[in-house]
Amino acid sequence: MSEAATHPATAPVARPELLASLDPLLREWLPRQRWFAGKGRPVTGFSLVAVVELLPPTAPLGLLHLLVRAHQPLSPTQGALPHPGDCYQLLIGVREALPPRLAPALIGHVEEGPLAGRTVYEALYDPRPAGVLLEALRTQARISELRFERDRHQEIREDLVPRLVTAEQSNSSIVYGDTFILKLLRRIVPGINPDLELPLTLSKEGCARVPAPTAWMLADLGEETHVLGVLQPFIKGAADGWELALRELAKGEDFSAEARALGRATAEVHMALARALPTVTLGHAQMELLVDGMSERLEAAAQAVPALRPYAPGLRTAFGALADLAAEGHTWTAQRIHGDLHLGQCLRSPTGQWTLIDFEGEPSKPLAERRMPHPTARDIAGMLRSFDYAAHSHHPLVPGWADTCRSAYCTGYAEVTGLDPRTDPVLLRACETDKAIYEVLYEARHRPDWLPVPLAAVRRLAASP
Ligand SMILES: Nc1ncnc2c1ncn2[C@@H]1O[C@H](COP(=O)(O)OP(=O)(O)O)[C@@H](O)[C@H]1O
Ligand SMILES: [Mg+2]
Repeated sequence: MSEAATHPATAPVARPELLASLDPLLREWLPRQRWFAGKGRPVTGFSLVAVVELLPPTAPLGLLHLLVRAHQPLSPTQGALPHPGDCYQLLIGVREALPPRLAPALIGHVEEGPLAGRTVYEALYDPRPAGVLLEALRTQARISELRFERDRHQEIREDLVPRLVTAEQSNSSIVYGDTFILKLLRRIVPGINPDLELPLTLSKEGCARVPAPTAWMLADLGEETHVLGVLQPFIKGAADGWELALRELAKGEDFSAEARALGRATAEVHMALARALPTVTLGHAQMELLVDGMSERLEAAAQAVPALRPYAPGLRTAFGALADLAAEGHTWTAQRIHGDLHLGQCLRSPTGQWTLIDFEGEPSKPLAERRMPHPTARDIAGMLRSFDYAAHSHHPLVPGWADTCRSAYCTGYAEVTGLDPRTDPVLLRACETDKAIYEVLYEARHRPDWLPVPLAAVRRLAASP
């Protein structure tokens, strides 16, 4: 289907000429962005999915909202299937020249086409364009394909000063006057993104363990809604669990009280999700599928990382034990979960309240898979691995630090749900093994210095009966 055919040009600038004029600049700039998912493969071209003029590009300050598909050769893991290329959300500012404070935002000088002679840049660095987004959310604007919606019960003031969050992120966030934070998703997929769906559901369910979405930004393209961004209350002075854990380790302090509170927070979120959204029973057939997926990931990782191979037989027993339980007629419950839970996705307010953020799941997985019910042990395993990572980031290793946290986390979880995750050791070991294998592959590819951390876990998981 040609997207251009179903979405007539909304901007007076002609779409093909606009894209042609930006193409050489974007080819240079896009792959350098931290959130660009196709690293290591060249961008061979772009196609325009949608363009909306938020401020006319002929004005002294123009603002274009772009959804562009980046064409790239396939990676070996994508197989031979035709892949249309990832679709990215870009906010492009257009000016005559950039003031020095915007120098880091430069994309380039346009040579030809409708914007010839002008300078284009990453508009999120610029308070005025960032303010345009907040105003659109506040007034529930509809601008061509873009639809801005809000929760009428939360007030949005008009005079909030924006600043771009410059931390390394897989998306981009703007903080408005220390009151709200707008997360703009970078890789855009059709359908309801769980990063909006789950916090909205949880806040409707009365769960205080997530910041309740204040407003959100959507694009209607053809039949499908695409989630572009979510505005939520900014937790001023918050620290994430990873920072806090490392801080306590550096002070030689124990982290078990916080780990227990995190267990309670996770449990509250899981219980609210199970109340609000469908749960399913996983019997023999479903468990076989789940175990097959885990086994396939193990074989692929062992293929790619020789250091994993000696442990493969032991790791297979973790999955075999789960398959055996299923064959004996044991069943499990699956429900919606966070999907990418670790210490960095937990924020503690200055008053000590924990909230969970970033419900997007693993963006590399298809949306349909991310929105399926899973055993809660997946999230729990993610946190258990995260305590282990925190412990290993501190030298010398503090013996028992991670184990104490892991145990306190499970205790906290059990206090709320009445069910200690350790009472199902077979499922927990399988989920932790699956996670550790993923980490081995990731570290081998991206951060070889860290490879010993998941390998130590793999050694333990392969040996434990
Ligand atoms: N509601 C919030 N209050 C304060 N800081 C937040 C809030 N939401 C996110 N952040 C900060 O922004 C960072 C990135 O947010 P996150 O949703 O995890 O985005 P990403 O998908 O890019 O990882 C967090 O690690 C946290 O530091
Ligand atoms: Mg995150």
